[in-house]
This record gives sequence, structure tokens and C-alpha cells, in this order.
Amino acid sequence: MEGREQWGTRAGFILAAVGSAVGLGNIWRFPYVAYDNGGGAFFIPYLFALLTAGIPLLIMEFTMGHKYRGSAPLTFARMNKKTEWIGWWQVAISFVISTYYAVIIAWALAYTYFAVGLKWGEDTGGFLFGDFLNLAEAPGQIGSVVPSVFIPLLIVWVVTLGVLFKGVKKGIEVANRVFIPTLMIMFLLIVIRALTLEGAALGLETLFKPDWSEIMSPGVWVAAYGQIFYSLSIGFAIMITYSSYLPKKADINNNAFIAGFSNSSVELLAGFGVFAALGFMATQAGVGVDEVATAGIGLAFVVFPQILNSFPGFNGLFGVLFFGSLVFAGLSSLISVVETFIAGFQDKFKVSRKKAVGIGGGLSALISFLFATQGGLFLLDAADYFINQFGVALAGLVSVITVSWFLKNLKPLQDHANATSDLRTGLWWRFCLGVITPIVLGYMFVMNLIDNIKENYEGYPTSFLFFSGWAVAIGAIVLGIVFASLKWGEKDLELPTSSEGKGGNE
Ligand code: ALA
Repeated sequence: MEGREQWGTRAGFILAAVGSAVGLGNIWRFPYVAYDNGGGAFFIPYLFALLTAGIPLLIMEFTMGHKYRGSAPLTFARMNKKTEWIGWWQVAISFVISTYYAVIIAWALAYTYFAVGLKWGEDTGGFLFGDFLNLAEAPGQIGSVVPSVFIPLLIVWVVTLGVLFKGVKKGIEVANRVFIPTLMIMFLLIVIRALTLEGAALGLETLFKPDWSEIMSPGVWVAAYGQIFYSLSIGFAIMITYSSYLPKKADINNNAFIAGFSNSSVELLAGFGVFAALGFMATQAGVGVDEVATAGIGLAFVVFPQILNSFPGFNGLFGVLFFGSLVFAGLSSLISVVETFIAGFQDKFKVSRKKAVGIGGGLSALISFLFATQGGLFLLDAADYFINQFGVALAGLVSVITVSWFLKNLKPLQDHANATSDLRTGLWWRFCLGVITPIVLGYMFVMNLIDNIKENYEGYPTSFLFFSGWAVAIGAIVLGIVFASLKWGEKDLELPTSSEGKGGNE
């Protein structure tokens, strides 16, 4: 596209990519997903997925965005018009994620406030589900909007859309320059404190003690792939969009390695920090770590406040650091998630950034209010599970198979990336994407699908899962096909020739 925006500097792009990758997925999601899926045994599929799919796919997405210079739909359409729907599907997945992601940041924002003076009291579970969320009795009941969630949610949207209004360089890049260093300092302080608590070693032992009975379960493998994709922001249009703003001269491979390893380092650190703190709590209570670790999304908002209650000192301060880290990590990721559909709308419908932010962001904000209702937590849990297992992981799989098997585009993409990168990838890259990922993820996906059809996730009622889970995941595909059927302008699918870089992206 003519006049496509660009990052100001290489550091600006890397910070934005790291800012997108490091998010709630690392701090809020990873520890409980690892715990739910066999603890230490989870690391095997996790590392396998990271090295054979995560990093290679990150390189692929960076290269696609850089080469075809478009949002995900435009990039896929320029690669081959018939694959445009995959780009829109990924954008639709991002749209779904944005609607509930904002709500979790809103919880974290509220909890940053509650941390001052430990306002959650002694019964932190009662506080979360009762006082704070005013949770409905059963899944499927919606109830009314909960003001204590709605107000921070509004703040989250004002900040996010405010940054996006300002554009790539002046908005996203500037925001990440502030958010990421702040996040790193806050986060390191809390992790170091957690690791030096009494009983920390006990917690780490639990995290690494593998439950081998889990490792053969397809669900665990799909969860590992889903976690890697979610955490690296791949498979849902983000990295394609961000790299489309790179100047022509950009070291794609190196940037991908930096972003990928930074993300996993933060993720592992979060795992250490959370489990060290759980070890502390178990030691205080004189019970095993298994008894204090909760599965599911309550880990950060029920167990952590309990741990903070019994911290040896500066309880409120560490509470602010923990929940504040979640807010900063979440905001920089939410910005990238929303940018995918803003860029998609701008490219296809030729609307101004402001209009795209207003309409796309506004619609997502409006839908997010559904998760701020009394039934919001159940909806959020189902949407998060389904959009990851049958959205992100599947879209990643479909895009890899399409690019490598049908379009036979891996080699040209590799040549493109290697031409501008110091670090060159070899045959291993094509082997990982063309052979290992499709076979392993493909097999695991089919088995997991069968398991999910046989047994309802979390034992939720079928009618509830149909609307809040299956319909959401399938709806994203349908939306992808519908948007892809709309026509492009005459010259839109031609590759722009003038995209020389400014700004030191060697
Ligand atoms: N990559 C983002 C996260 O980890 C979406 O939360």
C-alpha cells in the first residue's frame, strides 16, 4: 500500500514484537496451563513446540509480513488470492481474543488497586467470585453488568484505542518504549522476591516434577502448541501485521530469535516465580504444593492474593508490582491484537486509521462488556479454551500446511529472509515447518478434537459450550470466508515497489 506506516527504529519494532508476545499468556496463563497439563511433563511438548514450530513460524510470519507488506488478509491475498480467507480467519481469532483479553486486564487493574491495603481480605476466593465478579450460579446465565469490572474495562479501552489512534510510530512504538522497560523492572522485582521466599524450592520441585501419565495425552500436546502460539502471538495475524511495518532492510531472522527467546524467558521466569510463591504458601500452611495450586484461571486472582496476604513484608507493594505487571504486559499485547483488525480494515476498505480504530476497536469494546457481566467468567473460560485449541493452534497449522504444501512457498520465503539477515536459516527450518509441525500438530489436533467431542470441556453443559465455545471457533472461520469474498480495489494486490527503509533497521 502506498504510504504504509513504518517503525521508527529497529529497537522500536523489537520492543513492539516483544511487547505483543509477552502478555497475559506468559504471566497469567502459562503457570496454570503448565500445571493443568502435567507440570514438569508439560515442558517436553512445550520445548518441542517452541523449537520446531514456535520460532520457525515466527520467522515465517515475520518474513511474510515483510515480503508482502500487508495486514494478514492482504499478505495472504498477495501470496495467493485463494488463501486470503486464512488471513481474515486469523484476524477474526484476534478479534475474539481482544474481547475477553481486555477484561482480564481490567481485573488486573482492579486488583492493582485492591492490592493497596490488601482489600481482598482473608477469603480471597469469596472475594473474587462474590464481592468482585458477583458470579452467576451456573454457566449460561448472563445476569447484569458488574460495575467493578466495567469501570476498569473502560479505562483499558480508552488507553488501548488512544494509543492505536496515534498510529504505528507515534502510538504503538512509543507506548511499548514505556510499557516494556516498566514491566521488566516490576516483574523482575517480584520474581526475585518470590524465589527468595521460604519454601520456594518446594514449589519449583512441583513444577518440574513430571506427571508422566499426562505426556501421551493429545490434549497436553495441543495445549503446548496452543500456549506457544498464543504466547508468541503467532497464528492470529499479529506478527504478520507488525512486520509489514518494517522497512526493506531488516534482519528478520535475528529479530525473530530475539523476540522468541525473550518471550520464553519471561514465560519460564513467570513459571518459576508463581511456583516459588506457591511453595512458600504451602510451607506456611504445612501442606503439599498440590493442595494450594489451583487449576484454571483462579491461580492469579485467588491464590496470589492469599500468598500476598502472608508475605513477610511490603505486601501491598508486591501486590501492586504483580498485578501492575499483568496490566502492562496485557496492554502492550492487547494493542497488537487490536491492530490486526485495524490494519485489515484499513487495507481492504480504505478507511482512515481513526475510522478503523473507532469502528473495529469500538465493536470489540462493546462485545467485551458481555464478559463484564455476572456470567462473564464462564463465557471467558470457554471462549479462551476454544479459540486457542480450535482457533489459534488450528489456524497456525492451516497456515503452515498452506504455505509449505500447497503454495510451496517455504523456499522463496526463506531466501527472502536470508537475503536481509545476518543469521541464515537452513534446511532445518523448512523441515520443521513442512514436515514436523504438520504431522505432530495435525495428529494431536485430530485426537484432541475427538476427545472434546466425546467429553465436554470442564463438564460444562453442551448447549453452553456450543454457543460460547464451538460457535465462536467455527464462527471465526465463517467470518474469514465472508470477508475474503469481498472484492479488492484494482491495484491492491500488486506488491508496492517503493518501500525503502529509513530508521536504522539494518
Ligand atoms: N502473546 C500474547 C500473550 O502472551 C497474546 O498474552
